[in-house]
Amino acid sequence: MTTPADTLARIGGPLREELFHFLRIPSVSARSEHRSDVRRAAAWVSDHLRNTGFSTQMVETPGHPIVLGEWREAGPEAPTLLIYGHYDVQPAEPLELWTSPPFEPEIRDGRLYARGATDDKGQLYLHLKALEILMGSRGGLPVNVVVVAEGEEEVGSPNLLPFLRDHQDRLACDAVIISDSQMFAPGVPSLLSSLRGLAYVEIHVQGARSDLHSGAYGGAVPNAATVLARLLASLHDADGRVAIPGFYDRVVEWDSEARAAIDGLPFDEEGFRHETGAPGLQGEAGYRTLERLWIRPTCEVNGLLSGYTGEGAKTVLPARAMAKVSFRLVPDQDPDRISALLRSHLQAVAPPEVKVEVRELHHGRPWRGSPQGPFFEAARRALARSFGQEPVLTGEGGSIPIVSDFEEVLGAPVLLLGFGLPGSNLHAPDEWFPDAHLEKGIETLLHLYGELDG
Ligand code: BES
Ligand code: MN
Ligand code: MN
Repeated sequence: MTTPADTLARIGGPLREELFHFLRIPSVSARSEHRSDVRRAAAWVSDHLRNTGFSTQMVETPGHPIVLGEWREAGPEAPTLLIYGHYDVQPAEPLELWTSPPFEPEIRDGRLYARGATDDKGQLYLHLKALEILMGSRGGLPVNVVVVAEGEEEVGSPNLLPFLRDHQDRLACDAVIISDSQMFAPGVPSLLSSLRGLAYVEIHVQGARSDLHSGAYGGAVPNAATVLARLLASLHDADGRVAIPGFYDRVVEWDSEARAAIDGLPFDEEGFRHETGAPGLQGEAGYRTLERLWIRPTCEVNGLLSGYTGEGAKTVLPARAMAKVSFRLVPDQDPDRISALLRSHLQAVAPPEVKVEVRELHHGRPWRGSPQGPFFEAARRALARSFGQEPVLTGEGGSIPIVSDFEEVLGAPVLLLGFGLPGSNLHAPDEWFPDAHLEKGIETLLHLYGELDG
């Protein structure tokens, strides 16, 4: 009899070729010109599930479709696992900074380079393949499995929560499992216990009707760029804390035990700094780097636009200035409340000679899970078996907004086991996934189903 492990050992080449097909589809959800590509990626996932023996459905939304796959033959007594992943990717620009084209996957030095290699097509594929291998070698699964693959994660999942609510009964499950994150370090598997939330806004400042001669008008007419710079500077104090009144009101401080656990992780701070290329690290006074990343909220300027930025000098007084600003949030901060606080703050500090407008982009709630229970234990043992080392419990600075909704709407715990590595250039040029983690990842999932058997 062939075991799942035998099958996995045999299929290395075809495995990669198949994943390459998926990665070649430029499923960029943010760009309307890629609409049909996003749909093709959805169809790819759906076809794969159907060929595996799942019943599948493409659920249309006002945006990109949600792929729903179901296999329920383990019976009503068996637990149900819900696998969530996203088949959309971030835009690949700036293309000239990629060593090989983003949608032409290539393996170099043990790294599989492609947009979506880690976030999240590569990791979603690990699940699809594990299911296929199990179905092929044992003719079934030890648990019922529901797969939800969405194509709008990278644009804030605007249609997923309504989908969860509308299909609450059908999506009922005992645990949700997601691979859309990273391991703590090479060789050190991890299970996530927290994600930060997100409030993302644009701040628009308008002074004069249009740009003016900076000599003929400068000094007497407000400069939108200067005003915006002052507004942005008012968002932090000298200790690196966010200076918006009320910002920290609902922040739950982590107890000393949880902080000590973070402190105990083998974190290479200098290596982390080196990886970023920055001459030094900085952040909120009183907290260490991992705490600043995982358990503390932040405010970051993500983009700036104003005045003349072309070649040479143009003496102009900008009429308009815009900043994209996002807040990473921790429990129990609420994104809507945070943007309301920002609005009041700007109203209080902005000079009356300009117009300031705040536009909302996307929002997501923070999440902190309770890492325990049979599924968590099964995942822990599965990771330990395939990586030869106990997983560490980590947090994450990034956001997967739907995680807290899963827990709330479905009432099931969420397990986050990521197989990416730090420094894998998510959302950036040269995104990569560790080539060896294709087998490692699938092997872990096979062990996980083995743990859930019986
Ligand atoms: N997979 C990431 C979240 C993530 C990043 C987890 C890094 C672990 C490590 C996800 O696809 C993502 O990029 N989320 C966005 C938020 C979303 C609303 C656009 C993020 O964190 O910026
Ligand atoms: Mn992702
Ligand atoms: Mn992402």
